[in-house]
Amino acid sequence: MESVRQQIEMLRRQLHEHNYNYYVLSQPTISDFEFDRLMRQLMDLETAYPEYHDPNSPSVRVGSDVNNNFIQVTHRFPMLSLQNTYSEGEVADFYNRVKRALNEEFEIVCELKFDGTSISLVYEHGRLTRAVTRGDGRKGDDVTANVRTIRNVPLVLNGNDVPPYIEVRGEILMPWSSFDALNKERAEQEEPLFANPRNAASGTLKMQDSRVVASRKLESCVYSLLGDDLPARSHFDNMTLARKWGLNVSDAMRRCSTPEEVFDYLKEWDIARKNLPVITDGVVLKVDSLIQQRNLGATSKFPRWSIAFKFNAEQAVTRLESVSYQVGRTGAVTPVANLDPVLLSGTTVKRASLYNEDAVLALDLHIGDMVYVEKGGEIIPKITGVDKEARFLLGDKVAFTRKCPDCGTPLVRNEDEAAYYCPNSEGCPTQIKGRIEHFVTRKAMNIAIGPETVNLLYDKGLIRDAANLYQLRFEELAGLERWGETSANNLLESIEQSKSVPYERVLYALGVRFVGETVAQKLAQAFPGIDQLAQATVEQLVAVDEIGERIAQSVTAYFADPLYCDFVRRLRQNGLQFTLSEEALAAKSDKLKGLTIVISGTFELHSRDEYKVMILQNGGKNSGSVSKNTDYILAGENMGPAKLEKALKLGVKVIDEQTFLEMLQ
Ligand code: IVH
Repeated sequence: MESVRQQIEMLRRQLHEHNYNYYVLSQPTISDFEFDRLMRQLMDLETAYPEYHDPNSPSVRVGSDVNNNFIQVTHRFPMLSLQNTYSEGEVADFYNRVKRALNEEFEIVCELKFDGTSISLVYEHGRLTRAVTRGDGRKGDDVTANVRTIRNVPLVLNGNDVPPYIEVRGEILMPWSSFDALNKERAEQEEPLFANPRNAASGTLKMQDSRVVASRKLESCVYSLLGDDLPARSHFDNMTLARKWGLNVSDAMRRCSTPEEVFDYLKEWDIARKNLPVITDGVVLKVDSLIQQRNLGATSKFPRWSIAFKFNAEQAVTRLESVSYQVGRTGAVTPVANLDPVLLSGTTVKRASLYNEDAVLALDLHIGDMVYVEKGGEIIPKITGVDKEARFLLGDKVAFTRKCPDCGTPLVRNEDEAAYYCPNSEGCPTQIKGRIEHFVTRKAMNIAIGPETVNLLYDKGLIRDAANLYQLRFEELAGLERWGETSANNLLESIEQSKSVPYERVLYALGVRFVGETVAQKLAQAFPGIDQLAQATVEQLVAVDEIGERIAQSVTAYFADPLYCDFVRRLRQNGLQFTLSEEALAAKSDKLKGLTIVISGTFELHSRDEYKVMILQNGGKNSGSVSKNTDYILAGENMGPAKLEKALKLGVKVIDEQTFLEMLQ
């Protein structure tokens, strides 16, 4: 039988060709029905085998009317994710953190963490008007037609206390019974099986034909309400009302007033969940009071008022077949264990990360060993131990490679770092392609190509670095195998659009080591143009809040390298944004220049994070602890007594939020 990969490739080829016949030649050779059938077949395969994902697949291509049925919608409230914890100790830490920050009574609502795909439901005047997937948290796909088919999503809410505009967040789930029935049917038709109910639910939600969605019996479970005028000031009370309006709120929700009650809940549900009709993978803890939630605010990734506790990961034992090595875009070489396939928490595991040489040595791994595999917080499972008792014949000891698996260059290891690097950053194809792949990602320049196309363009000699993308010509692209005019135009259009991507994202796209999204934003605020950043010294860089020595060294090393300077120069010539936008600049000022401000307590007018941004935008420095260098303490309610005492002793001025805002006027 042909491999799944070949099947996927063949379907993609056929669909590309039919698209071309239809759109370019206006001479379709198959019926719409047949086209839809092929497309569905491809999408099912892609869902079941996410490892073959390609953003250029006809199923996801932007600009093709046939496939692009989902309109992207910006979430009015971003869809954040939660910090995961794995032990009672970490739950206790969370509890104490909240207690310290609030310094007043609080309650925690415990809920089950349902393992499906997140959804945002908008109800206007009680009517369901929109259902949007999480997407990247900021923007998602409008899947309203499909969600309307889910039986326990009410189309109209019941009751006269429903606010005029409300967003309901929840999870779309495929119950075990529907999952088993679906896979049975697929097995009979020799179609690939879904690995777990989560994949099945998210795949189903993205289907083109809502009749098929309806037949697959999805369910919803909702876990939060958002809006400007929510009926109650407590999460628990709002959810109770939501249940009364007809939304499916789990009965497992419980309000707890002590850590002991929380731990009881965790123990109880670790067992009871196994009898539920749907998959759960943990418990979500939430501070109940909405005012307290707002006061606690969020970090750049997670809310501070909530965490997820994940139930213990299942373990599996399997044989280590071989070890291979992967090179990342920064040249870091990671060992990967190839395993005898084994089922673990609903998915088949074939590979596991081995992190670095120290980890490999610590495990005393030999080829052929029986190893314990676990799924932690990461998607890639890890090897947690070796069953030495099971050794019969001792295989070769796993020794770390000393050469780059791609270009053969001897690897180097920096002092104090566990990772080995391939130093050939300019010549090692994997690194070059990795940097280009990073450059085009959604959070960076958002250019509509994926690894396969990067590979193709690289192999054809059309690109040697990301700046070459801006020189690509229509004829070169349209002449590529399986491309055609539509694909060429789409890519060129997407490249053109990337020229308006704001400076901070361009900075992130450059791929400077240790400069992630948040760091790029901080640098862009502090150095509103690339010239200022390129000239900054290590001292000037570490003066920026949260920029440490390691990042500063990496930034200066980048701009000291003539090759990178030339790369930036060429990007600049092509019209990319290398200064902060007018709008971002307008919000900036020097009003707090030279001032170090500590934020303490909880606030009414803005969140702590908003105050942080304001300090940064106005040239100030935000620091976490009071010292003799502190100029002001921006104090809210319940400022920590230790901070206050220290402030008084050092004579630091304590100001309230009103005064702070006046300083910015
Ligand atoms: S609350 C800002 N509650 O878990 C907090 N999430 O990383 C928003 N999930 O993708 C999430 N059950 O879709 C919350 N009872 C529950 C949940 C839940 C499942 C999912 C959610 C999100 C992920 C959190």
